[in-house]
Amino acid sequence: MRGLLCFYLVATDVCAFLESQYVKTKVLEDLNTCKNDNYHHFISMAIVSSIIECGRLCSSANECRRFMLNIRNNMCMLYESGENCFSSSDRLVKYCYRQKSICDEGSCVRCPIGYYGDRCQHIIEDCSDGFERDVVPQKYMLSFISPVSKQPPIEVKCQFQYGGLTLIQYRNIDCLEVNFNRSWEEYVHGFGNIHGNYWLGLENIHNIGKRFPRYKLCVVLTAGDVYYQGYYYEFNISSSTDDYRVHIVTFDDDPGDSTGDALTKGIYNINGRPFSTYDRDSTSYGCPRRFQAGWWYLDDPVCSRSNVNGKRSAGEFEATWHWLDNLGNRTDFSKVILRLLRH
Ligand SMILES: *[C@@H]1O[C@H](CO)[C@@H](O)[C@H](O)[C@H]1NC(C)=O
Ligand SMILES: *[C@@H]1O[C@H](CO)[C@@H](O)[C@H](O)[C@H]1NC(C)=O
Ligand SMILES: *[C@@H]1O[C@H](CO)[C@@H](O)[C@H](O)[C@H]1NC(C)=O
Repeated sequence: MRGLLCFYLVATDVCAFLESQYVKTKVLEDLNTCKNDNYHHFISMAIVSSIIECGRLCSSANECRRFMLNIRNNMCMLYESGENCFSSSDRLVKYCYRQKSICDEGSCVRCPIGYYGDRCQHIIEDCSDGFERDVVPQKYMLSFISPVSKQPPIEVKCQFQYGGLTLIQYRNIDCLEVNFNRSWEEYVHGFGNIHGNYWLGLENIHNIGKRFPRYKLCVVLTAGDVYYQGYYYEFNISSSTDDYRVHIVTFDDDPGDSTGDALTKGIYNINGRPFSTYDRDSTSYGCPRRFQAGWWYLDDPVCSRSNVNGKRSAGEFEATWHWLDNLGNRTDFSKVILRLLRH
C-alpha cells in the first residue's frame, strides 16, 4: 500500500503524513453538465511541487476535506466535501485523496462531513439528523450518512438547511441524460451520477425511512423560470419483501408556488402501491414499459398522474416528463428534485 500511495516520493516521513491523514479515492468521469449546481465546493487551487505539498495545503485549509492533484501540470485543487473527485479530462494523471479524521491523543477535529463526536466516531443517520444535531455546515454538501448502523456509510447530497433534506432523486434536462428504464435490481440499489441525474435506491430510501417516525417527501419542479414545490407528509416505503410499497399521506397545498397534487388525490392516490419495474410489474397495464421507468404506479390504465422517472421527452403524452395535478393543471418541467425531510 505504501509503495502505491507514495510511488514517486522519496522521504518516508511525507508518506507517513499522507497515510495518516488521507485515503486515496477515485477520480470519476465527470459525465454531467450540471455545473450550476452548488455541491462541488471547490475551495481553491494552486501549483505545487509534489503531492505532499498538495496534502499540506489541504491540511492547512480549515474547510478542506478532499484534494485532487494533476501530476502533469502540478495543479492542486482543494474541496470542502466529498469522497471521490470528478474530472472530464486527464483522469489518468489525476490523484484524489479524501481526508480521514485528524486525531491527536486528545481528540479528533475536522471529521469528514457527516461524521461527528470527539473521535469522529458517530455518523449522522440522514441529512435531517445532521441538521438537527448541528454537526454539519448549514449549506448544500456531499455528506456521509449511515441509515443502517454497522453498515458502511453511504454518500448522499444533503441540503443542511430548513431542517436538512436528503436527495433521493434528481432529473435535470441540462445534465447528461441517464436512462431510467431500469431493472428492479437497479432501482433497488440506485444508479446515475451523484452530480447529475440520479436515483438513490429503494433500499436506501427504505432504510432512511425506518430511522425516524415521520418523513415528508419534498417535490420541487422547475418549468422555465418558474419554480414549484409541494410536500407529502408521512412518506416512507416498506421493505423489499413487500415490494417497497409506498406510504404517503397528506399533500400540503401551498398556494402561490404549489406543484399541485399529482400523487394522492381520489382514485389517483398511489398510497399503498408497490414499486414496479419492467421486470417486476405489479400493474395489469404494463405501466413501467409504457412510462419507460420504475415508479409506484397505480393499477389503472392511467398508470400515474406524474412522470418524474420516465423519459424526458417522447412523442406520447405519458412518456414525457410531466406533473398533472388534481386541478388538471399540467406542468411540463425541465427539472425535478425529490428529497426527504423529517417532520
Ligand atoms: C426498457 O428496457 C427493457 C429491458 O431492457 C426493454 O425491453 C424495453 O424495450 C425498454 N424500453 C424502451 C422504451 O427502451
Ligand atoms: C410508515 O409510516 C407509517 C405511519 O407513519 C407507519 O405506520 C409504518 O409502520 C411505516 N412503515 C415503515 C416501513 O416504516
Ligand atoms: C391551474 O391552477 C391555477 C391556480 O394555480 C388556476 O387558477 C387555474 O385555473 C388552473 N388551470 C386549470 C386548467 O385547472
